[in-house]
Amino acid sequence: MKERHVTIISNSEEETIRLGREIGALLAEGDVVALVGELGSGKTWLTKGIAHGLGVSPKTVITSPSFALVNEHQGRVVLFHMDVYRLETLAEVLSAGLEEYLHSGGVVVLEWANRWPEILPEHTLTVELQILDDHSRQFTLTGRSPRPAEIVGAIEKKRPLK
Ligand SMILES: Nc1ncnc2c1ncn2[C@@H]1O[C@H](COP(=O)(O)OP(=O)(O)OP(=O)(O)O)[C@@H](O)[C@H]1O
Ligand SMILES: [Mg+2]
Repeated sequence: MKERHVTIISNSEEETIRLGREIGALLAEGDVVALVGELGSGKTWLTKGIAHGLGVSPKTVITSPSFALVNEHQGRVVLFHMDVYRLETLAEVLSAGLEEYLHSGGVVVLEWANRWPEILPEHTLTVELQILDDHSRQFTLTGRSPRPAEIVGAIEKKRPLK
């Protein structure tokens, strides 16, 4: 199938949270979101929004799970927020439990997902983040199979045509 993309620019942390919330509201059991972007590009800010959209209490603090590897938050489904930046071998990645999380009825959001493209299932929604300037970030959402393409389509629908 053809890939589906949408590109969105955010000019503030709040706008990034709002985009994350829209994405989170569309997510369901088994969905995987791969965040790809350099340090400080906004992966964790977007995840804060995704968490709200999934019904995680807005009071919950969402931070990069660098040391814990995975942070688990209860929403309308469980959010597994992983960071695979520090993992050095595929064996370590596998033992971090991604496979289990993928089959546990939760949603998985992965920071630095591009480090391990081989572990990502086909139905992954990929979000590439780019730093434009101090306050602006560009987000490109890509779906390469029907499920993430449906999410990309729903996000696109909410925006004015360019
Ligand atoms: N439009 C924006 N959206 C999100 N963050 C922004 C924006 N403009 C500026 N920022 C700043 O960019 C930084 C984004 O930090 P964040 O922790 O989300 O990055 P990250 O991609 O998770 O980094 P890391 O790889 O270190 O985990 C914050 O300091 C935030 O204040
Ligand atoms: Mg982060």
